[in-house]
Amino acid sequence: MTTRIIGTGSYLPKRVVTNDDLAKIMDTSDEWIRTRTGIRARHLVEEETTTFMCVEAAKRALENAGMQAEDIELIIVGTITADHVTPSAACEIQAAIGADKAVAFDVNAACSGFLFALHTAHAYIQAGIYKNALLLGAETLSKIMDWDDRSTCVLFGDGAGAAVVKADETGLLAFEQGSDGAKGHVLACEGRRNNNPYVSNDKAYDYVHMDGQEVYKFAVSTVPASIMRVLEQAEPCEIDYYVLHQANIRIIQSVAKRLKADEAKFPISLDHCGNISAGSVPILLDEMNRKGMLKRGHKIVMSGFGAGLTWGTALLEW
Ligand code: UT7
Repeated sequence: MTTRIIGTGSYLPKRVVTNDDLAKIMDTSDEWIRTRTGIRARHLVEEETTTFMCVEAAKRALENAGMQAEDIELIIVGTITADHVTPSAACEIQAAIGADKAVAFDVNAACSGFLFALHTAHAYIQAGIYKNALLLGAETLSKIMDWDDRSTCVLFGDGAGAAVVKADETGLLAFEQGSDGAKGHVLACEGRRNNNPYVSNDKAYDYVHMDGQEVYKFAVSTVPASIMRVLEQAEPCEIDYYVLHQANIRIIQSVAKRLKADEAKFPISLDHCGNISAGSVPILLDEMNRKGMLKRGHKIVMSGFGAGLTWGTALLEW
């Protein structure tokens, strides 16, 4: 018995912001952003919230799976930008969709969040504790960006992706996840200031700050190695698609090269979405599903990597 994805859904904010739009408000250009990253545009929230986007994505995934919210037993949201410290996004979604019997919680693993949610759900399913789960990866990264730092704010976008999984004979075939907390400082966000009168407030950072080149080096070495380890766990097979976290087209091309895999097997959404951290993988998966690209029996590698540092890779049969 394993864990199979039986439905997907996603939501992108209505507001599209192109590279040229950004060039009107900061010292950047379409040429720089496109050639360094592959990003042409991103969706950014105006009125939408993380929970709102998740609820829309969840409804679409449930409909795609032919499941009712009241039958869902577990909800896990991968996010670093829930609307509140508490309650969790997962609890808010549970209430909004009426998944009354579900246990709901968030996981904070940044760009690996959806993979960590999938592996956590799989562990519950393997243990026989739950038979199904609603998994989401969602971010409102625009609210934690430093909009005065052109080297980070042009890279990211907002959105939510969802998948319904259930216990089945086939599905997840192999996986691994990893963390390297010692390098956490290369991509970090300090968050809110401490208001405790007994603590001095000398922290400078309130927004995301990133050493792009260190993260780049981490990604191009860790991701292909992780994928190779996961493939070694399974029977040899031809991979139909590599659904990677959408951070930078150059990272994806480098991974393809190191794996000696055809770049055509690496679908892309970063051109119109930018980097949506935990949202990247499930949003791209939903786009592929809705385009009819995914056929029963297809072998798909999914890999998320980013802040923490964290990484998670899965091989699954569709
Ligand atoms: O999901 C989390 C994972 N995150 C990532 O995977 C990010 C990984 N890193 C990267 O993708 C790349 O390192 C970046 C796209 C972030 C940056 O590319 P880079 O080739 O490493 O550029 P750089 O940081 O070395 O900057 C090169 C130049 C600098 O100017 P000087 O010092 O050479 O004169 C920057 O000031 O580009 C300048 N620059 C910009 N210029 C126009 C930085 N940001 C911008 C900008 N527009 N938005």
